[in-house]
Amino acid sequence: MSVYMIRGGNRLAGRLAVHGAKNAALPILAAAVVCGDSVIENCPRLTDISVAVEILGHLGCRAARQGDAIVTSREGGGDCRIPDRLMGAMRSSIVFLGGMIACHGCAELTLPGGCELGARPIDLHLSALGQMGAAIRESGGRLYCSAPRGLHGARIDLTFPSVGATENTIIAAATARGETVLTGAAREPEILDLIDFLRGCGARIRLERDGAIRVEGVEKLGGTRHRVIPDRIAAGTYLCAAAMTGGELLLEQVDPGHLASCLSVLGGAGCQVSVGPDWVRLTAPERLRGFGTIKTMPYPGFPTDMQSVMMAAAATARGSTVFVENIFESRYRHVPELRKLGADIVTEGRAAMVTGVERLTGADLCCTDLRGGAAVVLGALAARGQSTVTGLAHIDRGYDDFAGKLARLGADIQRIEGKERKEGTDEEDGWTGTG
Ligand code: EPZ
Repeated sequence: MSVYMIRGGNRLAGRLAVHGAKNAALPILAAAVVCGDSVIENCPRLTDISVAVEILGHLGCRAARQGDAIVTSREGGGDCRIPDRLMGAMRSSIVFLGGMIACHGCAELTLPGGCELGARPIDLHLSALGQMGAAIRESGGRLYCSAPRGLHGARIDLTFPSVGATENTIIAAATARGETVLTGAAREPEILDLIDFLRGCGARIRLERDGAIRVEGVEKLGGTRHRVIPDRIAAGTYLCAAAMTGGELLLEQVDPGHLASCLSVLGGAGCQVSVGPDWVRLTAPERLRGFGTIKTMPYPGFPTDMQSVMMAAAATARGSTVFVENIFESRYRHVPELRKLGADIVTEGRAAMVTGVERLTGADLCCTDLRGGAAVVLGALAARGQSTVTGLAHIDRGYDDFAGKLARLGADIQRIEGKERKEGTDEEDGWTGTG
């Protein structure tokens, strides 16, 4: 079992370049199934990205890392199936479905499992692809999809702006016959990045003023060279780490526009924030003020992926903060871990009330999910004394060299590698995979 040994209390200060966005790189890699040879730059070194590369191999698309890029080339052939192991390793494997049906005319998958944020249905994905002509049958936990005559355009209205369902629909529509008009779509920066990539490959996609996404299917897509946008959630995590330790951080290779809601909360809590075209500088006060109320919302609202790390920061602020989680039904699994550090947090349904305490104290902790795990590490960095953190496979899914980067900012954090597996499972660190 790998573990972080953390001695908390250090002020984090320095400069840091942010890696490419996991949640942009993953759908772009999924789209590579329907595109020509491409070079996808700024792909972060994360386990989720390795899983996506492996999936591409099964689907007849060779993908290999070259420096910070992943180079893809369609070799033809390939399978209509994603192995169960890869479906289970990463929830976002489901975003490959649209491209698989478009490219192969069929797909067979297990339902993505390992829900750790409450129910995460895929009804919107399936309904959209069904309206585009896919016949979808579910039996024994498996999905059987086919579209022998290909997919066609459709008018699709998403009842919730699901990020994954929007991505699946756009990828499927890019080479479908005729026009697809998608309303109620998500507009996260990662989706716009996927659209940029597909446009680079020759897709005809228009964003309407009213929020609709209009895709005119083309017969064949070419390839492109594309640079993935910076990871706004990783950026926000490092900003919170500096903010809650009274630190100072210059973040480079970021898009400050993508961080607006997070910067506004940190500014309101007493941090001095300045931004340039691709950088953010934050200087934190000795102790943050409580954040008031934070409600997670689809972009450009406050991101659900930042809720847990912002909660870690709220735990030592002067005053209280109320969180309302509107995106996922159960995204407070980090709360018991933060409580072990002495945080005063009470949850009720989708709400969490945090009363900042003057000091947290080190404890033995476990990552509960990717962003929850980052929150636990941040709590330990701000706490007095020693903490241990296990469950690091979660962190490895979304943060490239998390401990190394924090250490370079002055954190006393060390990773001890271990290889034991939990008895009776093939999971290291009790990891079941979400994302
Ligand atoms: C993406 O997940 C991200 N993952 C998540 O980041 C992020 O938290 C989430 O969007 C919201 O921003 C990736 O991009 C790989 P959704 P996704 O479909 O696509 C409901 C991280 O930490 N819903 O927008 O799975 C669903 O239950 C991860 O990096 C349906 O009801 O999110 C949820 O309540 C975690 N039916 C809400 O919509 C559906 O068919 C949002 O889900 C699909 C979704």
